[in-house]
Amino acid sequence: MEPNKEEESSVQDEAVDKSNFKNCNHIAFYRRQKLLHPGKSLYQALLDSVTLSNDSVKLQIINEKNKVPLLVEIYAIESNIFRIKINEVSSLKSRYEVPDVLIKEPTTQRLSLSQKEAGILVLTCASEDRKLHIIANPFQIKLESKDETVLSVNANGLLYFEHLQPPPKNRSQNKEDTPTDSFQENQEDLGLWQEKFGSFLDIKENGPSSIGLDFSLHGFEHVYGIPEHAETLLLKNTSDNDAYRLFNLDVYRHEIHDKRGIYGSVPFLLAHKPNRTSGIFWLNSSETLVEINTKAELGTKLKYTLVPQTDVRWMSESGIIDVFLLMGPTPLDIFKQYAQLTGTQALPPLFSLGYHQCRWNYEDEHDVKAVDAGFDEHEIPYDVIWLDIEHTNGKRYFTWDKKKFHSPQRMQELLMRKKRKLVVIIDPHIKVDPLYTLYSQGKKKGYFVKDRKGQDFEGICWPGTSSYLDFTSPEVREWYADQFDFKTYKGSTDILFAWNDMNEPSVFKEAELTLPRDAVHHGNWEHREVHNLYGFYQQMATAEGLIKRSGGQKRPFVLTRSFFAGSQKYGAVWTGDNAADWSYLKISIPMLLTLSISGISFCGADVGGFIGDPEPDLLVRWYQAGAYQPFFRGHANIDSKRREPWLFGDENTRIIREAIRERYTLLPYLYSLFYRAHTTAEPVMRPLWVEFPKEQETFAVEDEYMLGNALLVHPVTEQEATTVNILLPGSDEVWYDFRRYRQLDCPGTLKIPVTLESIPVFQRGGSVIPLKTTVGRSTEWMTDISYELHVALNSKDFAIGELYLDDGHSFQYLHKKEFLHRKFTFHKNVFSSSCADEIGQYHTKCVVEKVLILGVQKQPTSVTASFQGKKRNICARKSEMEAKVKSSCCEDQRGVSCSWSDYFLFI
Ligand code: NOJ
Repeated sequence: MEPNKEEESSVQDEAVDKSNFKNCNHIAFYRRQKLLHPGKSLYQALLDSVTLSNDSVKLQIINEKNKVPLLVEIYAIESNIFRIKINEVSSLKSRYEVPDVLIKEPTTQRLSLSQKEAGILVLTCASEDRKLHIIANPFQIKLESKDETVLSVNANGLLYFEHLQPPPKNRSQNKEDTPTDSFQENQEDLGLWQEKFGSFLDIKENGPSSIGLDFSLHGFEHVYGIPEHAETLLLKNTSDNDAYRLFNLDVYRHEIHDKRGIYGSVPFLLAHKPNRTSGIFWLNSSETLVEINTKAELGTKLKYTLVPQTDVRWMSESGIIDVFLLMGPTPLDIFKQYAQLTGTQALPPLFSLGYHQCRWNYEDEHDVKAVDAGFDEHEIPYDVIWLDIEHTNGKRYFTWDKKKFHSPQRMQELLMRKKRKLVVIIDPHIKVDPLYTLYSQGKKKGYFVKDRKGQDFEGICWPGTSSYLDFTSPEVREWYADQFDFKTYKGSTDILFAWNDMNEPSVFKEAELTLPRDAVHHGNWEHREVHNLYGFYQQMATAEGLIKRSGGQKRPFVLTRSFFAGSQKYGAVWTGDNAADWSYLKISIPMLLTLSISGISFCGADVGGFIGDPEPDLLVRWYQAGAYQPFFRGHANIDSKRREPWLFGDENTRIIREAIRERYTLLPYLYSLFYRAHTTAEPVMRPLWVEFPKEQETFAVEDEYMLGNALLVHPVTEQEATTVNILLPGSDEVWYDFRRYRQLDCPGTLKIPVTLESIPVFQRGGSVIPLKTTVGRSTEWMTDISYELHVALNSKDFAIGELYLDDGHSFQYLHKKEFLHRKFTFHKNVFSSSCADEIGQYHTKCVVEKVLILGVQKQPTSVTASFQGKKRNICARKSEMEAKVKSSCCEDQRGVSCSWSDYFLFI
């Protein structure tokens, strides 16, 4: 049966209920691990077992109580990374090791034995100044870089490893059939072979298999990362039963300041102090809990001084211990090191950096056409209109509701003529309906996730009873990717892109609204092992499908709600079901910053707030914030009022229009930043401490951020704000108001007056920002619009910046090096444009039409243009502050028709 609208919203209401989700105390492996207290580790290293090879050091450790040996493998990976793997020496059956997340087998370096004392081994990495101490009893590892102990492993003795055991013979076999209703009745139950949550019972085929380990980060008191939580940027100390949870769940109207997991997980934690950034990447896809305890310890070198330390304890339900320790030392090194393991952000097609208009639902073709026309009528640029689940025939994805969308192709042709795109939703649940080809084929081929008895699992989601595609199987992914073929997906065209939702996966009426952990996937792995990977795999298959349908030519765009480490390779992520409330606008900034430093640069939050109806001023403020965030989409729930940008009166329409237009003029800068994210792993949106790593006052800032290294953005998130306090960091920095070009008095905290029109954005002295001189109806209308450069001088009268451009949609930038990468420098009164990458060739009709130079001490008396060795004087009218450069010139024109002309403006 298909739920009607009322049923749908009652299902949604159910999801709001907190009691649907576990807290730590409900989690059996957490309770079991918490029985192990910090202190002397039960493990001892058997130093006689150490073997050294070219790529690793291996040794055994043994638990003094149960005498079970474990194998420890240590790898030094190039670029300052260590990897530690701990598994059973011989286990009853293999334990799950996360596949497909590392982009390749990391390149290792030889570790050599440099010292062997009683009970301690010291290993040195050949090429770098880093050492590793293995202490035998109790077992501990210390990592040193340049004689500084950065991190200790198992210093609190919390290494925990449940080896697989045969099931106890006398275990009651029929218990599973008679679940009790309340967890309370089983408080003592350690959940070894089965675990209850409410009326749900999880049968553990392999019994207890939990793992855990602690890390001490020396000198660090600021830690970040491990999304996704609606929480502060700076991670908080956890108390008992309040660990950060990484378990992908569909939490409608997720609570703010809650450490329980929501839609996605990236088990990557970053630690920062003024002289170093480090990272811990815990490669495990089962449910994971992270405890954090920042404290002050007595220093080892200078006695009686207190040195901060952060202890981090990781606990996972199953799998093996496989952890990467990233040694930095700079924030940018950490991002590179993490990307070396999991990949960089995919370069988005240019259109996807424009504005996206979504709601659940645009009703029919007529509605789509009217909304599309509304943007033109109100002169608001936009690139993409979105269709939610109602566009399908009864929530059968890859189909159309023929009454509402009678000729989808024609609708897309209209959008195509307008140089715009369409995104449709494609969820992972498949309606159980033998007449639905996707279902019948999937069923026949055995492509659905199974229940523990080997039958196709059936659960409830939007279409009613559904089965769930097993995206962990490469064969299923390939078949799924083929569904995007134009011949198979009727009514689709090459302007149609995809949105993967409900892929935690969401299963109504099951424990925590997701697949039972004892469901079974490809390779006979239980769902508990792969849970956090499910959405990652769906997005991977979808992106592959979009690439495939274009014959490998076009870049895909796929938005996903659920994600894991490495999801950045496949597209964009949004923060799910937020609400039209100021608090959600405010929290969106730290949430997006956390995603960004965890590798996922292409991220955004629903503008306006998904649930409810925003007041006009909230909507305006949200557009202004979204305009300066990487993924920019307005979205609204099915029962919220219509909220296209022109429905709130002329004045609000004007301000929203301005914000969106500002986004469009900024696209050259944004696209260049995405190119950097793609090639060098620099996050597009960055916490201030990334750019100002020594400035302690920036470490906890989460109401403002850097967009790239040049723009500081402080969205207004308070209702009726008349002023905002802005921190402009760096004692040597010079800052300029981005739109008024005014130099600000001095760095520090400034109180700045704001009206509803203000978006406080500041350009950092020393930077050059490329912009478009005007906007068009969408990105594609703007191809030939010229550029404008904003050159902001620093205290040394210097500035540098870059511009990246290519065709905006294909892979030719990669395969044929068809791109243009220019570098702009202002130095000793010479402003020059040079080639930043000799390999790239791309021809554009665009010119740099305007150059604005901010912060010149004295107006120039003359301006000389030089090109190919020829110099000529050109006029500079002092009093008018404007110097016209008459000729088209450029110091180096290799592969470029990007020549500058028209005028320089000195401010
Ligand atoms: C939940 C998603 O979070 C939301 O964005 C979407 O509109 C609904 N599902 C309906 O598909």
